[in-house]
Amino acid sequence: MSAVQPGAFAGQVVLITGAAGGLGSELAKQAASAGATVVLAGKRVRALEKVYDAIVAAGGPEPAIYPINLEGATPAEFATMAETIAQQCGRLDVLIHAAASFSGLTPLESLPAEDWLRSLQVNLNAPFVLTQQCLPLLRASRGACMFVLDDEARVGNAFWSAYGVAKFALRGLVSQWSQELEYAGVRVLSFTPPPMRTTLRSRAYFAENPELIDTAEVPAAQCLNLLVRTGAKVH
Ligand SMILES: NC(=O)c1ccc[n+]([C@@H]2O[C@H](COP(=O)([O-])OP(=O)(O)OC[C@H]3O[C@@H](n4cnc5c(N)ncnc54)[C@H](OP(=O)(O)O)[C@@H]3O)[C@@H](O)[C@H]2O)c1
Repeated sequence: MSAVQPGAFAGQVVLITGAAGGLGSELAKQAASAGATVVLAGKRVRALEKVYDAIVAAGGPEPAIYPINLEGATPAEFATMAETIAQQCGRLDVLIHAAASFSGLTPLESLPAEDWLRSLQVNLNAPFVLTQQCLPLLRASRGACMFVLDDEARVGNAFWSAYGVAKFALRGLVSQWSQELEYAGVRVLSFTPPPMRTTLRSRAYFAENPELIDTAEVPAAQCLNLLVRTGAKVH
């Protein structure tokens, strides 16, 4: 694995959604060990506290915890989140959307409409609105926004349902936003990880031996290195 260079994120504030998840927690720990002050966003505070404790125990900059349920969060709540980060952290350099909701493979015909709406809320609408609210901060820092996608050859197949549709839509969002923001100096990027041993994976492949699937450690480093390569700032 090519680890993230020490100090690569020194002085930077990195907001990560799904920060207690398989990929999100690895991103948080590795970004902190490369010098970032990480804002850990997620819905289960106890799980976020474990990531917080691991970062502090490893000697990283003290992170912050921001509890938020993406399913019910309103645009006003996302605006408050961005304002709080501005007030408490003074800046935002990187926003990584690592949260995702996936409840299992389901035929579209029998998917309850409420589940469709809930999934698109977490997997598509929330990342859009949160990004929009964070843009003034990202413009000010000439920062970056990273969307975590999924293998379209897989999630375009039957039964991947609203989760798969949301990932296709995010691809479109990245394409539009990266062009619109090019001259503002804000990088809008995507990262498609390989299969990783996480809760989300186990919901789709419940019969699989998880020991045969790699953890999120290497993909997290690849994702962070992509941010570094495409222009993380030198302090
Ligand atoms: N695992 C894979 O093989 C794989 C492959 C390709 C792409 N990906 C992508 O990688 C990213 C990370 O997924 P993962 O594999 O690390 O899955 P994971 O371990 O299940 O993590 C997903 C995270 O999203 C959070 N989340 C879900 N619903 C939420 C809500 N309503 N509000 C706030 N947070 C919410 C979860 O919090 P709770 O735990 O509190 O629910 C969890 O922390 C996702 O974008 C996924 O699509 C994963």
